[in-house]
Amino acid sequence: MELKRLGASGVMVPEIGLGTWRYSGGSEPLRRGIELGATLIDTAEMYRTEDQVGEAIAGIREQVFIATKVLGSNLRYDAVLRAADKSLRLLGIDKIDLYQIHWPNPSVPITETMRAMERLVSDGLVGYIGVSNFSVEDMMDAQSAMQNNPIVSNQILYNLRRRRAERDVIPYCREHDIMVMAYSPLHEGALVGNGGGRLRRALRLGGDQQVLAEIADETGKTAAQVALNWVADQEGVIAIPKSNSVARTEENCAASGWRLTADQRQRLDRAFAV
Ligand SMILES: NC(=O)c1ccc[n+]([C@@H]2O[C@H](COP(=O)([O-])OP(=O)(O)OC[C@H]3O[C@@H](n4cnc5c(N)ncnc54)[C@H](OP(=O)(O)O)[C@@H]3O)[C@@H](O)[C@H]2O)c1
Repeated sequence: MELKRLGASGVMVPEIGLGTWRYSGGSEPLRRGIELGATLIDTAEMYRTEDQVGEAIAGIREQVFIATKVLGSNLRYDAVLRAADKSLRLLGIDKIDLYQIHWPNPSVPITETMRAMERLVSDGLVGYIGVSNFSVEDMMDAQSAMQNNPIVSNQILYNLRRRRAERDVIPYCREHDIMVMAYSPLHEGALVGNGGGRLRRALRLGGDQQVLAEIADETGKTAAQVALNWVADQEGVIAIPKSNSVARTEENCAASGWRLTADQRQRLDRAFAV
């Protein structure tokens, strides 16, 4: 598993982590992922999966980097502290490695939220502070509201079909040493014909997926591995796919440790144009 630096923290994290939104796989897929080096687990108070994560990491906590999130509706000072306390209890740990603000909330002054986030760090309950779904302006405001800590990551929607962040958020993050954590890297499964539901119906099953299939053939990898590798190959970006299955978790972990050729990247970039 290739590692990347978590922004200014200097901590190294795997380029493929484990997402847990709508996760119902129990301990096994997460434990297998950890064995394979996917030692970053992403959860959130919103997902109601912190307890499952807690069970999966029992006894191996020191091997895992735990990222969770406070809801955008819990960003008042006291609410942040309460939410962190609840997450710590559900996860069964005494420190959250990365605490992220799930969504910006313009009705709460960012200075108030960041004061609480920094208090959690100084109290030893949180290692590093991250954000999610923050625009460039949101990140600038959040960073200026902090006294002693850098924002180390921004978790955003990013995959072959959703590349808007390439215009502004990703370049800004690179310039300011903020790691990008790409969520829904498989477009909720729709990129690889899985996941059912809304996104699959909305898909244009066209030439772009043909190119993905061709490159999977050429590399001897699966379409999911190609799609994840395309994300994780980018400077300062990691991917956090979610899977309820051990087999697909193994498949996703094997998306690291090799690289697409420049020509293959270009063909994907062209087929899935922004
Ligand atoms: N910050 C935010 O606002 C936000 C928003 C969305 C997501 N996230 C985070 O990002 C994580 C990942 O995003 P996501 O869960 O939305 O979508 P995703 O990882 O892009 O896709 C998950 C879907 O793909 C399927 N899948 C996984 N691996 C596969 C493979 N190798 N082949 C075929 N299908 C595969 C899964 O099914 P199975 O489970 O059946 O394998 C599931 O249906 C979340 O779990 C969460 O931690 C954050």
